[in-house]
Amino acid sequence: MEIKRVLVAGGSGLVGSELLPLLAEQGYEVAILSRSGKGNRSYAWDPENGYVDPEAIRFADAIINLSGANVASYWTEAYKKKITDSRTQSNAVLLAACIKENRFPKVYLSAGGMNYYGDSGDSWMRESDPAGKEGFLPGSCVAWENAVSLWKDYGVRTAQFRISLVLSMKGGALPKMLMTLPARILPVFGDGNQWYSWIHIRDLANLFLFSLKNEAISGIYNAASPEPWRMRNFLRHCASAHGVHAWYPSIPEFMVKIMLGQMSETVLTSIRLSVERLEQAGFTWMFPELEKAVRDLRKKS
Ligand SMILES: NC(=O)c1ccc[n+]([C@@H]2O[C@H](COP(=O)([O-])OP(=O)(O)OC[C@H]3O[C@@H](n4cnc5c(N)ncnc54)[C@H](OP(=O)(O)O)[C@@H]3O)[C@@H](O)[C@H]2O)c1
Repeated sequence: MEIKRVLVAGGSGLVGSELLPLLAEQGYEVAILSRSGKGNRSYAWDPENGYVDPEAIRFADAIINLSGANVASYWTEAYKKKITDSRTQSNAVLLAACIKENRFPKVYLSAGGMNYYGDSGDSWMRESDPAGKEGFLPGSCVAWENAVSLWKDYGVRTAQFRISLVLSMKGGALPKMLMTLPARILPVFGDGNQWYSWIHIRDLANLFLFSLKNEAISGIYNAASPEPWRMRNFLRHCASAHGVHAWYPSIPEFMVKIMLGQMSETVLTSIRLSVERLEQAGFTWMFPELEKAVRDLRKKS
């Protein structure tokens, strides 16, 4: 089966906004699965209650799953459950719908999270490294990966990406981190020595496209640029890309924890991703360097 039609679950979000036009540009017919039915070509689903429009399954030669409750919200116990359930259920519901229709995509690609590794200090983290033991996100990412791996049992080529901080000026973490840049102040969380791995949104969209076309892509991949930075230097490069000399006051770790609650683990955790596996697969980055990446995003915003 040649891949012509791509179904993007959760395609209404930030990553989808970059990926959808790219897929269309490349000649794919694209539709999204959305709970609210927004967007041009959109099929309905309700992952929480196990419903997927069967037409969506009949449409798809390939499925890309980007869905999941946004992590950047205050984490109550109920919200943490929602973060995990929305990811495991969406996979389970799609797989059950394919089994019911007896129609499987040629390839299934899924988002995943670099927070799988948890705090890992200065070590370069590779795909074979174990999941982190502390905090909430490592366990949540493991459950997500277990749900995605079930697709392989049905002979579907499956790949999942441990995605780093996605850089875009249209949403996600970057505009929030740079909110105070006009005042030449960029607050550093904790001591600012934690490693931030990141990827330009265009490179992430290209990675999904590359994986769609390249039959050798299967399994788990770190999705990041080859150039992670410690948070303090990450902010310096962002300021420099804006031509601004900024001041970098530290917010002590305990204050960050008071302000953000348990969600502080998303900004205080040190994760330095190795991209050796992607390099070996032949993937090339348009924006491997942070300053150039931010300059490009700035130009487009
Ligand atoms: N952005 C990042 O920096 C980053 C980093 C690491 C990993 N990721 C992962 O990459 C994927 C795409 O990221 P993104 O930034 O594009 O995410 P996003 O903007 O938050 O969009 C994800 C989509 O998921 C759907 N969704 C929201 N809550 C849901 C729920 N409770 N159940 C099922 N679907 C739900 C929404 O679509 P509808 O409302 O149309 O249904 C939404 O448009 C996500 O899985 C995210 O966790 C992102």
